[in-house]
Formats: sequence, structure tokens, C-alpha cells
Amino acid sequence: MDRHSRLAAALRGEPVDRPPVWFMRQAGRYMAEYRAIRERVSFLELCHDPALACEVTCQPVDRFGVDAAIVFSDILTIPEAMGCPVEFHPGRGPVLPEPIRTAADVERLVDPDIGSALPWVPETLRLFRAARPEVPILGFAGAPFTLLCYMVEGGGSKNWLALKQLLFQSPEVAQALLGRLADAVGAYLQAQVDAGAAAVQMFDTWAGILSPEDWRRFALPAAQRALSHVSGAPRIYFTRDSSPFLRMLPETGADVIGLDWRVDIAEAREVLGGMPVQGNMDPVALYAPPAEVRRRVHAICDAAGPRGHVFNLGHGVLPTTPLEGVEAMIAAVKERSG
Ligand code: CP3
Repeated sequence: MDRHSRLAAALRGEPVDRPPVWFMRQAGRYMAEYRAIRERVSFLELCHDPALACEVTCQPVDRFGVDAAIVFSDILTIPEAMGCPVEFHPGRGPVLPEPIRTAADVERLVDPDIGSALPWVPETLRLFRAARPEVPILGFAGAPFTLLCYMVEGGGSKNWLALKQLLFQSPEVAQALLGRLADAVGAYLQAQVDAGAAAVQMFDTWAGILSPEDWRRFALPAAQRALSHVSGAPRIYFTRDSSPFLRMLPETGADVIGLDWRVDIAEAREVLGGMPVQGNMDPVALYAPPAEVRRRVHAICDAAGPRGHVFNLGHGVLPTTPLEGVEAMIAAVKERSG
């Protein structure tokens, strides 16, 4: 099968010659080619330059022969376009120096016209499709709840105290912002489908910090609303730490569920009623000897079954990951047969 039909079939639960493989953050600091570009430009400059972003998107495709690319960008481009500035400090993760805490803060934000506010990502998609027409490319966005986390907290957090105070003390303020984020995220994902994305992934990285009841109240309606704006390509919903409410995830309306590594993939497929899944190798397993990486890949593929599985890590690849681990993972997936 060619890479386009392999990915499309797996995302629809149809027969494949073997599972397709790509992985989250596949373009990034663990690659010397990426670090060389980052010596010349900042991360945000890279995101805002379609020619360079396309070059970086191609790097893991050319080096490892993955079955799909993911457009190079970041989930925090939407808060930035809404008027909530974002900074990246090496080693510290993203910082949003003007966090949103009150109804007045929410009112000050703008509802961007996605086409003109964020032209880089559709342009990068188009450049990639011209440069590597044989390789499907995924678009992505942060889920409304995960974007809310960063906007309210002002960055990453251990306990998400500011965020949860807003959710529990002023739920109407949080819901107003979630609704606006959902519409922006939906329009942004659809713009990527229109630019030729073979599928789109919505990252709800932090949804697992919520109780099942609060997930249903805050994260679910916003995820549903965002995904309801998107048609024409399969939609993947990814969360971490979501095993306690795995059975509710199909209610997002997604076509495919992205799994982290804390859940048994066979059990997950049973709970999800055979819905296609993506995942679920522990990113730190790539530091193991190649034979152990290979054993783990085969164990995941055996448990997932031959259909409706896109091989991936359970979260993004880490910056110090050894290339041998990545190579062993991809070689092992390519040993599989349908
Ligand atoms: O997967 C890919 O190859 C596509 C590119 C991609 C990036 N970020 C590039 C990036 C994607 C899909 C993302 C999504 C993203 N960004 C998420 C959701 C997925 C996840 O990992 O949970 C989140 C939470 C963010 C926010 C963000 N941006 C974080 C936490 C960081 C890491 C900060 C750090 O220094 O470790 C970033 C920066 C970032 N995004 C980098 C890359 C390659 C590193 C930037 C650099 O070059 O210094």
C-alpha cells in the first residue's frame, strides 16, 4: 500500500498491509538537523516561516521514512492570535505573561479571522504537499480546554490552581472563553483540511487533570463544539491520563482516539467498541536497547489487533531521545503484516 492509502485505511478501521507509523513531536530537538535550524532562528520565528517550517516538517520523513508528517507549528498560536501573548524560554516551556483570570480579561480577547490571523500553517501544508506529494500530512490544534489551561495559568503547572479556581468559582467565565476557543479551533482545523491535511489531531493534553464529572462539564462540550466545525478528513482526539473516562471519549464526536501509554491498548479497544485508535508506546521506552524497543512495538501491535491502529507514541518524543530507539521502533512497525 502507498502511505496515503495505508493511513486513510487505518484511520477508518479498514484492512492494511501493516499499521502506519508517525509520532508526536517527530520534528524537534532530538534531531541534529532541527537543532541546526534552531541555532539561527527562534522557535516562534520558525513557526511563522512556512518555508522553514516545511523544511523541518520534512526532516523526520526523510530521515526515518515515517508514514505521515505533522505540520510544524504549536498549539499556542491560537491564544496568541486571540491577543494573549506567548513566549518560549529554553528549558522552561511556554510562558503567557498576561494570563486570563476575569470576565474583563475574556472580553478583551479578539475572535480572530483564522484565515488572515494564522496564514502560516495552511501555507506550510501546501508547501509540504508540493515537496513530498507521496506522504500524507496531518494538521493539528490544541483542544479548547487545553488552551484554556495555558491561558488562565500563564504556562504549565503542577496543580493548575489558577485554572481550577476559575472553573470552580466562575464557571460562566470559563465557559464563555471555552466557547470562543472552540469556534476558533474548529475554524483553524477546517482551514487545515481545506489546505489538504489528510487528517487532523486535536490535542487535549491536560484534560486528564479533571475529574470525570468536570471533564464532562468543561472539556467535553468544548471539544464537541470544535470538532463539529470540521468535516472532510478523519478527526483524532488525543488526551493524556484519560483512562478513568476512556468510555466517554467517543462522545467528543472524534473518529479516532489517541491513547497515552498508561492504558492497555487491547482493553481500550474493547471499551471504545472497536473504534480506531492511535498510540500507545511510552516515549521513554525509546531509551531502551533496540531489541527491547522492538519487543514492545510488537506487543502493542499484537494487543491492538490488525485493523484500526495507527502506531504512535503515547505522548511527544523527548528532546534527548536516542535516534537508535526511534529507528528500532519504525523498523519494528515495518516488520508487521496485516
Ligand atoms: O509533533 C510535531 O512534530 C509537530 C509540532 C508540535 C510542536 N508542539 C512543536 C514544538 C506539536 C504538535 C506541538 C503541540 C503542543 N505544543 C502541545 C500538545 C502536545 C503535547 O506535547 O502535549 C503542547 C502542550 C504544546 C505547548 C508547548 N510548546 C510545550 C509544552 C513546549 C515544550 C517546551 C520545552 O521547551 O520543552 C512547546 C515548544 C515546542 N513545540 C517545541 C517543539 C518542537 C520545542 C521548541 C524548541 O525548539 O525549543
